[in-house]
Amino acid sequence: MNYDQKISAYDLIIFGAKGDLSKRKLLPALYQLEKSFKLHINTRIIGVGRANWDKENYRKIVKDCIMKFSNEKINKKIWNKFSKKLLFCNIDVNDTSSFIKLQKIINQDRKILINYFALPQHTFKSLCKGLKKFQLNLKKDRVILEKPLGNSLQTSKKINIQINKVFKEKRIFRIDHYLGKETILNLLALKFSNSILFTNWSNKTIDHVQITVSEEVGIEGRLSYFEQTGQMRDMVQNHLLQILSILAMSPPINLKANNIRNEKLKILKSLRTIDEKNINKNTIRGQYQSGKINNIKVPSYLKEIGKKNYSNTETFVAIKVNIDNWKWYGVPFYLRTGKRLPKKYSEIVIYFKPLNMNLFCQSSKKFPLNKIVIRLQPNEGIDIFIMNKIPGLDSNYTLKETKLNFDYKHSFKNLRIYDAYERLLLDSSLGIQSLFVRRDEIEESWKWIDSIIHAWKNKKSKLEFYKAGTWGPQSSNDLLKRDGKYWNIYS
Ligand code: BG6
Repeated sequence: MNYDQKISAYDLIIFGAKGDLSKRKLLPALYQLEKSFKLHINTRIIGVGRANWDKENYRKIVKDCIMKFSNEKINKKIWNKFSKKLLFCNIDVNDTSSFIKLQKIINQDRKILINYFALPQHTFKSLCKGLKKFQLNLKKDRVILEKPLGNSLQTSKKINIQINKVFKEKRIFRIDHYLGKETILNLLALKFSNSILFTNWSNKTIDHVQITVSEEVGIEGRLSYFEQTGQMRDMVQNHLLQILSILAMSPPINLKANNIRNEKLKILKSLRTIDEKNINKNTIRGQYQSGKINNIKVPSYLKEIGKKNYSNTETFVAIKVNIDNWKWYGVPFYLRTGKRLPKKYSEIVIYFKPLNMNLFCQSSKKFPLNKIVIRLQPNEGIDIFIMNKIPGLDSNYTLKETKLNFDYKHSFKNLRIYDAYERLLLDSSLGIQSLFVRRDEIEESWKWIDSIIHAWKNKKSKLEFYKAGTWGPQSSNDLLKRDGKYWNIYS
């Protein structure tokens, strides 16, 4: 990674300029990059879509979404600079001959081209064809792909083969936006720059790990997408497995993209297979019914998708994962993620093994395990829970679990936490691939996920229900209870 690299000019084409991703995330992130002086004066951002807009219409629409999604007042000077970079090109992506319009714009001032596919994957074939036909994939040009990439190993391979015909792996930037989050980036720093953690990061000292990614939202209008995808493919295949692999990976020889990705891949390859033999012991799947979140009534999943009787799609997953390598053998990693849970938050909790013998323990009483809670979002920070003596003249030692706290807001007072897309767009423009997922990583995670999904189907695994606003089905608690453990209580 080298963030001192000089910012140079490029053309960014956003296929899917009218879409939600572009409006909510990409354009506000690009505006912030302008504000941080990370966009070259000659960079151009070319929105592509079927709308009959000219650049003036597009600039107005972009201004509206920045005002709506940036949570801050627009700065006139920055906006003037930024808006000059915005162009619009009317293209039907299914009609590859229309790409000639794009070629004309690009050839006015040919520089590195970054193609952002912010469109559903069924359009990728046509996009690739159009780009190739009009030489919008020269040697240094790049492509950014949004998830989902396929919905199984087979379909993901198909997409990768398609893209590889037009762009080399070195030019492909597969986004998993969790990798751009400041707190995920900090995991590497945390593990590999602190001897206190580095020397204690294995099955010798760690008892178990919990990863929770909890969401308040339901499916936000993505009816057919979610009904076919479910929480397993939407969240576990990508975000949770990426967090897990960063957390468990061994130190790479340096911070170069492929060395980091090689280490993550080793973890993905070491995940113990979950199949029909062990599916019920290791996974829980649930779906929300109506309930209340923050005292507001929310409908059931079925109602949200407009179905009356039944849907077999899961909106909640809990899994016990084992990593069969020397470092992690015997340490369970419990993952859980769900929609319509009580709070939006993500955290990693690392529990340490107890001491074999403890001077302060009465035989009947066990101390809580030492734990580190890494709050990924919101209130980003880290809490370490340790035992301390309660002050007093009592001749017996009375101990209490107390918290050491690091909190981004206080420790880095005037520093803004960047949105993941700012970091990812910047890195793709610099050609830095460490925060993007390599083809073999995606395929390895699909292999593992496919086996679970097949087992669910073949065993006709039971879908359990939970009330919106609760922490998922009761059996999610039982998954840990069987091992004598409990989910960390959110505080
Ligand atoms: C996306 C999923 O990848 O991540 C969504 O498709 C989910 O379903 C979202 O809501 C969560 O992202 P974040 O950054 O809000 O935690």
